[in-house]
Amino acid sequence: MMSLSGLFLITFLLVHLGVNLTLFIGKDTFNGASHFMATNPVIQVMQFVLAAGFIFHIIMGIWLELKNRASRPIKYAKNNAAANSGWASRNMIYTGILVLLFIVLHLKDFFVQIKFGEVHDDYELVTQLFKNPIYVLIYVVAFVLLGIHLSHGFQSAFTSIGARVPKYLKCVKNLGMAFSYFIALGFSVIAIYFYFA
Ligand code: HEM
Repeated sequence: MMSLSGLFLITFLLVHLGVNLTLFIGKDTFNGASHFMATNPVIQVMQFVLAAGFIFHIIMGIWLELKNRASRPIKYAKNNAAANSGWASRNMIYTGILVLLFIVLHLKDFFVQIKFGEVHDDYELVTQLFKNPIYVLIYVVAFVLLGIHLSHGFQSAFTSIGARVPKYLKCVKNLGMAFSYFIALGFSVIAIYFYFA
């Protein structure tokens, strides 16, 4: 269930980045895409599924972490965890919580403003927010953390669903790394570009 909800959120990230990249085409294209996302009935229903997917993934992640800790109440006297696991895999809970904090900030400034505020031009909202260097810095740090989270999460999801068999191992690992870089860089380029633009 953790992997399925993760794969669902991965799909969301692809769609979200795809829509956001239209910012580079121009104001009308981005506002058109944004309007479509805000009014299409299928997307409206999917927003509730998306919220449920996020909440489920977060609760399950915290529950799994607590369960893991409880299963070893007495710590190893000597433990070299780095010998057989990566930094990203051992810190999923921390990168996950930091990405969650980013999402709260992001929803407050974008989603809430567009849905319940006085915003009539989504393009203006996005490009104006990225004029603030502190904001851009927070965003880029969050995207790097998201990339780290995905660098383990992607291949871990494929392991959980049984698709990380020796035949596909290299492919899944490479795809996971490529996807993580694509997401982290893709979102970062938007924030940095509109700071300077
Ligand atoms: C440059 C980066 C990003 C920009 C410019 C951006 C822009 C936006 C905008 C304009 C909305 C409001 C859409 C609407 O309601 O019409 C939105 C919503 C949202 N964003 Fe982002 N976003 C970025 C990165 C991210 C990332 C990395 C995540 C997840 C980790 C994320 C998660 C969400 C969620 C969950 C929503 C609410 C659902 C929705 O409206 O589709 N965003 N974003």
